[in-house]
Amino acid sequence: MKLLIKEGTIVNPDSQKKADVLIESSRISRIADAIPEKEADKVISAKDKFVFAGFIDMHTHLRTPGREDEEDLLSGSLASARGGFTTLLCMPNTNPAIDNYEIALRIRKEAEKIGLVDIYPVGAITKNREGKEISEFGFLAEAGCLAVSDDGFPLKESSLLRRALEYAENFNLLVISHCEDLSLSGEGLIRESPLSAEWGIPSVPEISEIVDLVRQIEVVRYLNSRVHFAHISSKRSVELIKRAKEEGINITAETCPHYFTFSLKDVEESGFSPLYKVNPPLGREEDKLALKKALKEGIIDVIATDHAPHTYLEKEIDFNSAEFGMIGLEFALPLSLSLVREGFLSLEDLACRLSYRPAQILNLKDRGYIKEGLRADLTIVDTEREQLITKENIFSKSKNTPLLGKVLKGEVVYTIYKGKIVYSS
Ligand code: DOR
Repeated sequence: MKLLIKEGTIVNPDSQKKADVLIESSRISRIADAIPEKEADKVISAKDKFVFAGFIDMHTHLRTPGREDEEDLLSGSLASARGGFTTLLCMPNTNPAIDNYEIALRIRKEAEKIGLVDIYPVGAITKNREGKEISEFGFLAEAGCLAVSDDGFPLKESSLLRRALEYAENFNLLVISHCEDLSLSGEGLIRESPLSAEWGIPSVPEISEIVDLVRQIEVVRYLNSRVHFAHISSKRSVELIKRAKEEGINITAETCPHYFTFSLKDVEESGFSPLYKVNPPLGREEDKLALKKALKEGIIDVIATDHAPHTYLEKEIDFNSAEFGMIGLEFALPLSLSLVREGFLSLEDLACRLSYRPAQILNLKDRGYIKEGLRADLTIVDTEREQLITKENIFSKSKNTPLLGKVLKGEVVYTIYKGKIVYSS
C-alpha cells in the first residue's frame, strides 16, 4: 500500500518546508514538491497542517501487568495514537514489576500484536524495584528493553547507582533516574511553600530533588557514564543540569507538560483537587517559567508525559489519600503548543523535544526525523483546531486530569505508524 500525504508542512528540528510525502512499505520513500496522486493507493490531505515525525514518549505508565483496570496495552496504545505518539517507553512500576525477561518480552510481543504503536518496556533496575538486588540487565535488553529505571524511587545507595550505571553500559541500556531524597520528601504531598505551611499539609522541599540530582550528577561524572533524569520539576535543577552539561557530563533530562502548565497556584485555586497531585509535586510559577526557558535552550532535552492513569476511586477522594499522577498522552501536544503560542518554542523546537531528541537519546536511528528512507512514523497536527476535553472523548481507561471541561487548542488529526494510519480525528 502506498500512502501519499499532500500539501503538508514538514517540521523537522532544523527546518520547515511544504512538501508531499510518499510512504511505501512502512518507510518514507519520497519527499517532493508535488507527487502525483496517481502514484499512491491512498491520499490524505495535510493542507494547512503540520507533519511531524511521530512523537516518542520516554515516560509512560501502562499499568500492565497488574493494574489493567487503570490502563492496558490496548487502551494505552489507543491513547498514545490519539496523542500522536508512535513510540513509547512504559515504566516498570507494575505488579509484578518488569524486572525479568519473561514479563518484558510479553509486553513487547503483546504490544506488537496490537500493532498501533511501538512499546518498549523499561526494565526495573532492581528486583521488584526494592533498591536491593540488581536485575539481570542482559536478559532485559534481550527482551527488547532500551532503558532501565526504578521509576518513582531513587537508587538511594550510591554504590548501587554506580553498579547500575556500569552494568547498563555493557548492554547499551539507558539508565532513567528519578531524583528524590526520601529523607527530605518523607510523606510530603505538595511542594513545601507558604501554601503548605498555611494549610499544614505535609510537603516536599525543593531540595529533595536538587540534593539527589547533585549526588547523581557527581556519580555520573566520576564514572564518565551517562544518565537520563526523569520528570524534572524545579528551577534550581535546571541550573544544575545546565552547569553539568557545560562541564561535559553526559546527562539528559525530561520535564512533563504538567510542570510547565500548572503550579501550586492551581493546587490552591482548585481547592486542593487531587487531580493536581503528582510526584514530584507541582512547583512555583518561577519553576514553570524556568522549565519553559530550559526547553528552548535545550537544557531540558525532552518533553515526556509521565502518563499516570488512576481509577476514579483512587483520585476523586481527599487530597491526602489520593494517588499521585495525572494522565498525559492525549494532551501533551496541545499543552506543548501553548509554549509555541506564548513565544517560548518554535514548531521546530517541538519536533526536537517530542521526536528528535528522544530518538537520539534512545539510539533509535530509524525515526525521530522526517527524511527519505526513515520509518514512516508521522503525526499530522492542526495547530488551530480546538477540542473540549470530556471523560467521554478520552481514550485512556482512566480520566484523571484537571483538564476535564477545558478547551485545548491544537489537535492531532492523523497518526501514522509504520506507514499505517492508526488514528484519525
Ligand atoms: O505522579 C506520578 N505518578 N509520578 C510518578 O513518578 C509515578 C506515577 C504513577 O505511576 O502513578
